[in-house]
Amino acid sequence: LDVPTTIHWHGLHVAPQNDGGPHTPIPPNGIWNPTFEILDAAGTYWYHPHLHHMTDHHVSMGISGQIWVRDPVEQALELPRTYGVDEFPIILQTKGFDAMGMIEAHTNSDDVAMVNATVGATLPVPASVVRLHVLNGASQRVFQLGFSDDRTFQLIATDGGLLPAPVALTRLRLAPAERAEILVSFTGEEGAAVDLMSFASELPNAVYGATQPGMGAGQVLTNYNPNPLNGTDFPFLSLQVGPAAPGAVFSIPAVLDPGHVLPWTAADADVVRPFTFSPTQMGPGALNGDFLINGTPFDMMTMNFDVQLGDTERWEITNQSPIGHPFHVHNTPFYILDRGGVPPAAYEAGLKDVVFVPAMGSVRIMMQFLDFSHPEVPYMYHCHMLTHEDGGMMGQFRVLDPAASVGKAPTDPTFSGGFSPNPADATVDVRWPDGDPEVRVFSMTGQEVLAGPRSAVGDRWDVSHWPAGVYLALIWEGGAGKAVRLMVE
Ligand code: C2O
Ligand code: CU
Ligand code: CU
Repeated sequence: LDVPTTIHWHGLHVAPQNDGGPHTPIPPNGIWNPTFEILDAAGTYWYHPHLHHMTDHHVSMGISGQIWVRDPVEQALELPRTYGVDEFPIILQTKGFDAMGMIEAHTNSDDVAMVNATVGATLPVPASVVRLHVLNGASQRVFQLGFSDDRTFQLIATDGGLLPAPVALTRLRLAPAERAEILVSFTGEEGAAVDLMSFASELPNAVYGATQPGMGAGQVLTNYNPNPLNGTDFPFLSLQVGPAAPGAVFSIPAVLDPGHVLPWTAADADVVRPFTFSPTQMGPGALNGDFLINGTPFDMMTMNFDVQLGDTERWEITNQSPIGHPFHVHNTPFYILDRGGVPPAAYEAGLKDVVFVPAMGSVRIMMQFLDFSHPEVPYMYHCHMLTHEDGGMMGQFRVLDPAASVGKAPTDPTFSGGFSPNPADATVDVRWPDGDPEVRVFSMTGQEVLAGPRSAVGDRWDVSHWPAGVYLALIWEGGAGKAVRLMVE
């Protein structure tokens, strides 16, 4: 791409500098080489760009996909696991297209349902048990999933991995960024066809995807209605049953991962944090404005809070806005403690990293911050309706290790280049790596503001006339370019 972007590993437990958040942009036509060990339980994770203000645009244009993690617990179960035969990625999205057939981002007129970027998709499945890894990859829309014949399916995993035992359902509500692994039995049904549907007529108002996106018809959202998907049942995918394959699975395990149950009581929290969602605009136009978390919009230069490595925390989320929001936390999966004081139903009692917080509702979640700390690079928490996220419904936190000294710049043993001071306001001194390095500096909109070899650009730059913000310096050391973030105040 000739613009900066990032890649975030949604749901994976990785160090913040590998997390692909807005502070780790990939330069235009540049390379980013994160390296990390997979510590997560078997499950369905995904990846997508996360550049501030640009997430919806980059995801809508097509950058996203699933990551499947396997582990010994999953491997020991008799589950379908032949890719493309009885195990499938199912990425559900809705998009709007303009008169030229080009994808439109940042509109509320997503009226085309797609599976794996295909409109009117069909899928041949065997007459046995089939495993679907379902991701709601839509920018905003909530789906009420089920099958056209109302058959029962088994939910076996949520965002962060396997449930303790399968949960039998005929409907599953999936908000943006939530994942579900489901088992569906087609045993003895060769020749049949059944649709995977969103029964959106069953969505209550104040959910994006219902007839009304707010709590009543008086609350408007520009371009939302009319739309054939709002409040109307629609198909995503036609499943066409063929013969069972050799080695097919015909049964469903009774036990999955018994370890995946809430390990804490509310009182086990070392720290309790309130998060309140509110609209920036009051009255009937509230849905057209931005939304805030704890009264402030996201600011790249402001750390909202610090978490102490090793702590268990309880986050109490209250939605004081007239639409439901899917709330996502980076770094670690969480458990839902309760919704409005009521313990979660079995289908959402497992490991989660997104929780739908209904309009005027509240949810409490608990998690523990292990393994990764960093004195500078934060993790994000945000609404996963991408227009809301891009509009500032996001915050950031550092995880700090009390045993390490805080506040010093991170050290990268493989690279000696950098800037000081950083953030800078008038001038900045460049610390060059050895050799005869060359640099290219980009603004976050992809504009090149400075380029050349050390001999031409010098060791001290006057940045007093650069607009405040985050810049990306790509410095070549040997044959490789390295991205260094420079903040200008
Ligand atoms: Cu799916 Cu902060 O992201
Ligand atoms: Cu994420
Ligand atoms: Cu939101």
